[in-house]
Amino acid sequence: MSQPVQAPSVYPASDEFVASAHVDAAGYEAMYSASAADPAAFWAEHGKRIDWIKPYTKVKNTSFEPGNISIKWFEDGQLNVSANCVDRHMTTRANQTAIIWEPDHPDTPALHITYAQLLENTCRMANVLKAHGVTKGDRVVIYLPMIPEAAYAMLACARIGAIHSIVFAGFSPDALSNRINDSEAKCVITADFAPRGGRKTALKANTDAALLHCDDRVKCLVVKHTGDQTSWVSGRDIDVKAEMAEVSPYCSYVEVNAEDPLFILYTSGSTGKPKGVVHTSGGYLVYASMTHQMTFDYHDGDVFWCTADVGWVTGHSYIIYGPLANGATTIMFEGVPTYPDAGRFWEVCAKHKVNQFYTAPTAIRALMGQGAEWVEKHDLSSLKLLGSVGEPINPEAWNWYNTHVGKGKCPIVDTFWQTETGGHLITPLPGAVPQKPGSATMPFFGVKPVILDAATAEVQTETAAEGVLCITDSWPGQMRTLWGDHARFEEAYFSQYPGYYFTGDGCRRDADGYYWITGRVDDVINVSGHRMGTAEVESALVAHSMVAEAAVVGYPHEIKGQGIYAYVTLMNDVEPTDELRKDLVKWVRQEIGPIASPDLIQWSPGLPKTRSGKIMRRILRKIAENDYDALGDISTLADPSVVEELIANRMNRR
Ligand code: WT7
Repeated sequence: MSQPVQAPSVYPASDEFVASAHVDAAGYEAMYSASAADPAAFWAEHGKRIDWIKPYTKVKNTSFEPGNISIKWFEDGQLNVSANCVDRHMTTRANQTAIIWEPDHPDTPALHITYAQLLENTCRMANVLKAHGVTKGDRVVIYLPMIPEAAYAMLACARIGAIHSIVFAGFSPDALSNRINDSEAKCVITADFAPRGGRKTALKANTDAALLHCDDRVKCLVVKHTGDQTSWVSGRDIDVKAEMAEVSPYCSYVEVNAEDPLFILYTSGSTGKPKGVVHTSGGYLVYASMTHQMTFDYHDGDVFWCTADVGWVTGHSYIIYGPLANGATTIMFEGVPTYPDAGRFWEVCAKHKVNQFYTAPTAIRALMGQGAEWVEKHDLSSLKLLGSVGEPINPEAWNWYNTHVGKGKCPIVDTFWQTETGGHLITPLPGAVPQKPGSATMPFFGVKPVILDAATAEVQTETAAEGVLCITDSWPGQMRTLWGDHARFEEAYFSQYPGYYFTGDGCRRDADGYYWITGRVDDVINVSGHRMGTAEVESALVAHSMVAEAAVVGYPHEIKGQGIYAYVTLMNDVEPTDELRKDLVKWVRQEIGPIASPDLIQWSPGLPKTRSGKIMRRILRKIAENDYDALGDISTLADPSVVEELIANRMNRR
């Protein structure tokens, strides 16, 4: 097949796709204008897509006013999220598969869990939680592999009004204990081991280590998943599966207020301590389910696969809550894209006849490097749509995804959003908005983006513009506060550009009004689609006895998008050796988790600081990018010679 000389830069969906799409171009225009003109009326209508025990009469009560940031949606409504995701499908689809669980190894059979089975298992899990004293408003930390019990645990918490906080199974004991303590959780649900890519993480051992730093009363519910031996603390440790088998198979659900918290999810910010993002019940569920249906053009009977982990918000909204609220069949995958070989994603797509496939650019780039032959081996004819999330997708990866996976017939939805936003903010609706590779395109209903000049905070009124991305008004999926710290919530998101929600991202809008996210403008980096605060890595490094000081920045990395580059100043008399370098990497893995491992460490006897002692990261970023000519003004540095030295020493980065 010959390649076109120049690929077209705009990709509309096929006529066939548009004909059956939920929303076409005219529909998008009409619905978007309506949502922007009268958000309360728009959401009053669309709030009805979920079941309410007590219908709301108030729809929108939100303020981005400095000093009075307050966000409430459907505030007098009552509902139960678990009932919406499970019970309400019982009359129409009790025997339909709700969750397909695909295990780490392809030889282990997949599980097809029907809605009826999901209801029973959720109820059993809820009864176990209740038996151990968990009630409405209590926090439950979930530290599990990608196994069905993670879904049962989330839905069980929602059922009894408890607030879950999932900690990604790749996080360290320290990260886990910090989250258990910050949320003051009553119990943690974990497993013996987490198999992934043929290896096993000792989750129970990690939890034991974490619980040494927590209140003695915290219970430890253990899912015996692999069945391998673990330690056991009697009185504290509970065998979840054994108890689930004993308790009643039904548990009634409680009524919660629309604004009662559904979950807390910790994410990285530009300062050291992770932020406990709080999402509430009503608005979140309306938004997750609507975006799931519209963005992915999900139709009844489709098989939907989001490859994320439930430890991230993507897994919350698009493996569990959105799909299940819509009565979908959703895949939960325990493994990794390259195990046992680089064809695993495509093997799973073929096996389960996946219709919508949603993954991250970092995975696409990694698989692209393995060669298209891994894709060609499998029958991908079931695919109708592809999605991308987590970072900007580079055109090369977009083209590969489009050509080899989508065979040129699947729209690609590049969805821009954040832990804080609950669901997609900027994304093409596939039947309505032609795609441009690398652009997240247009706002979802009710989302009003605005581009401000980073320095002057002036709103850019021209269509073609560049600056920082803010949102002018609330949408139902928006976070409500930071757990236990509303002041930090205001500070972090509403103080820099008063009157607006500040995303932390840079953005360009082209002459057609398409949005192009250009990356974070704060000290947050994006490593393999995982969000990392540079300050977190720095504080882990300086906690090492041989490190005097550290500064961490991101740098362009071919597969990960951004890599972690650490400038490290050692204590006096400490020799910089390769062994110490390895030791520091290992140390950071232990302190935070493998996703925070520095990719490069440069020994740096001095760091570029202003006279007031502030490290000038701008300069460090440039050196990490090998961009020495554009260092900008260095005259305010206390000691400008440090810069020369850093450049001269850059070859010792490894
Ligand atoms: C940050 C949020 C919620 C999705 C998973 C990540 C970046 C996310 C895109 C995209 C360009 C993107 C932004 C954002 N990001 N999606 N489609 N195009 N950038 O959630 O961990 O809260 O990270 O990820 O920088 O601020 P998160």
